Amino acid sequence: MNNIISVIRGDITKQVVEAIVNAANTSLRGGGGVDGAIHRAAGPQLLQECITLKGCPTGEARITRGYQLPAEWVIHTVGPIWRGGKAGEDERLRDCYIHCFEIVREKKIRSIAFPSVSTGAYRFPLERAVRIAITVTKECIAQCPHLEKVMFVCFDETTYEWYQHIVSEK
Ligand code: APR
Repeated sequence: MNNIISVIRGDITKQVVEAIVNAANTSLRGGGGVDGAIHRAAGPQLLQECITLKGCPTGEARITRGYQLPAEWVIHTVGPIWRGGKAGEDERLRDCYIHCFEIVREKKIRSIAFPSVSTGAYRFPLERAVRIAITVTKECIAQCPHLEKVMFVCFDETTYEWYQHIVSEK
């Protein structure tokens, strides 16, 4: 099952998969980083739909259409802001991936691309975040028999190298 996981360097807004994951904030009204890129690529209808959702708590996920994106769906998840590691950040980041895969199961989504949630503006330590992302993903894909492809789309070389390294660990 783990052979459905791949790691690439690139721009998540260009990925031709059924769903891409957005590293959003609790307002779900867009922002910088990958959130900004996804909203720019999807067009204004994405924000219009997001506004109807009335926000999203940290660790949870919400699904919208992808509009002008190649992806049919955007799964918005809100990662934890790093506050030193003693405020439940690990658990909240785990929750992000768990809730994204819950939606994958419900919607029978066959292919999904993730960015590196929380490791940009939210300052979550990279190796620690990647270990959580990969560990939880491997746990969750076992419950998603219909799932054919899980991509981690890394925007910079350091992130790419960490994902490659940890995905290939036994
Ligand atoms: N494709 C893939 N990854 C991207 C892209 C892109 N087009 N643009 C940025 N990234 C990467 C960043 O380089 C980083 O590795 O996404 C990762 C997550 O960084 P952020 O986008 O800053 O997300 P995060 O750390 O979760 O902070 C979320 O930032 O943009 C705001 O509205 C957002 O308030 C929220 C906060």
